[in-house]
Amino acid sequence: ERQWEHDYYQLMEKVARYYQQQLKAGKQGERVITYLKDRGLSGEIARDFGLGFAPDEWHSLQALFGHDQSINKALVNCGMLIEKDSNRYDRFRDRVMFPIRDRRGRVIAFGGRVIDKGEPKYLNSPETDIFHKSRELYGLYEMRQFNRKVDWAVVVEGYMDVVSLAQFGVRNAVATLGTATSSTHIQQLFRVCSKIVFCFDGDRAGRDAALRALSHSIPQIKDNREIRFMFLPDGEDPDTQVRQVGAEVFCEEAQNAPSLFDFLMEHLKSQVDMDSFEGPGKLANLAKPFIDLMTDAIHRERFIQQLSLQVGLSEQKLNALLLDPPKQQS
Ligand code: CTP
Ligand code: MN
Ligand code: MN
Ligand code: MN
Ligand code: MN
Repeated sequence: ERQWEHDYYQLMEKVARYYQQQLKAGKQGERVITYLKDRGLSGEIARDFGLGFAPDEWHSLQALFGHDQSINKALVNCGMLIEKDSNRYDRFRDRVMFPIRDRRGRVIAFGGRVIDKGEPKYLNSPETDIFHKSRELYGLYEMRQFNRKVDWAVVVEGYMDVVSLAQFGVRNAVATLGTATSSTHIQQLFRVCSKIVFCFDGDRAGRDAALRALSHSIPQIKDNREIRFMFLPDGEDPDTQVRQVGAEVFCEEAQNAPSLFDFLMEHLKSQVDMDSFEGPGKLANLAKPFIDLMTDAIHRERFIQQLSLQVGLSEQKLNALLLDPPKQQS
């Protein structure tokens, strides 16, 4: 009995190597490499991120690992094989494969994209014993491999965005994995740098994602931490944007993007008619739940100060009329 038979991590590493080898030497690898090249990715970047190819077959992993029951079970548990009735088959077929690594570099899951066109465009590993979507950030390990000391990081939606940014020299991008940004994601990132810039797609989904990230971000602001929100032109995502403007401009725009508090104020104001009689009052009411999330006393005070100017009441009045006394920090 070999050790890796019971070690999910080693199993996943072996799968990742197999997919990589299928890209480099497999029968259909050529076609996939052409696709990646068409998207502007070099062999070097593909290697840095361990990109691979899952062949268009139903039983490639069973061919690789054999029919040992415990290994097959492990592959099912890791989300690599789908078990249906008494059949097991490859979850990922005919896809570009992005290995998803944890902070320590262990392969814990995969993302797979169809080559060129097809549905669903993206397919990810399911939640497993070793993969918890709400905790993991794609590219965090690769970012730290490239540079141990990063000043800031940009959070994007897709792994293609991360890889494409890296191709252009923006090596400090990470992606959430087809889920909303969670508090855990933000905490993970603040362990390695003190400034985070969210940069979601310039579409409806991206704007919704930004609003969800906003609520999770507010309680995390303290001390020297900084969070900004970068908005892309309609129809663009970080991949297409960096192609158009280049790394230097992209990074400059990211670092000068509106701060969390500016974004919040703009977002609130966009929902009310400030010229109407009720406008300022509505603004204060809309702001309240967000202010309640602010645990940092200085930022909270400053935000209330700004709000009071917008609403036309003294800070004292505003506090007295609307807001609970600051919550005790636990
Ligand atoms: N995503 C996902 N699962 C889905 C849809 C999206 O994991 N069912 C993730 C992928 O990582 C994807 C990202 O969300 O890259 C953004 O989705 P979308 O903007 O739709 O991807 P595109 O930018 O259109 O993908 P591409 O550039 O590869 O065409
Ligand atoms: Mn667990
Ligand atoms: Mn999108
Ligand atoms: Mn996109
Ligand atoms: Mn895209």
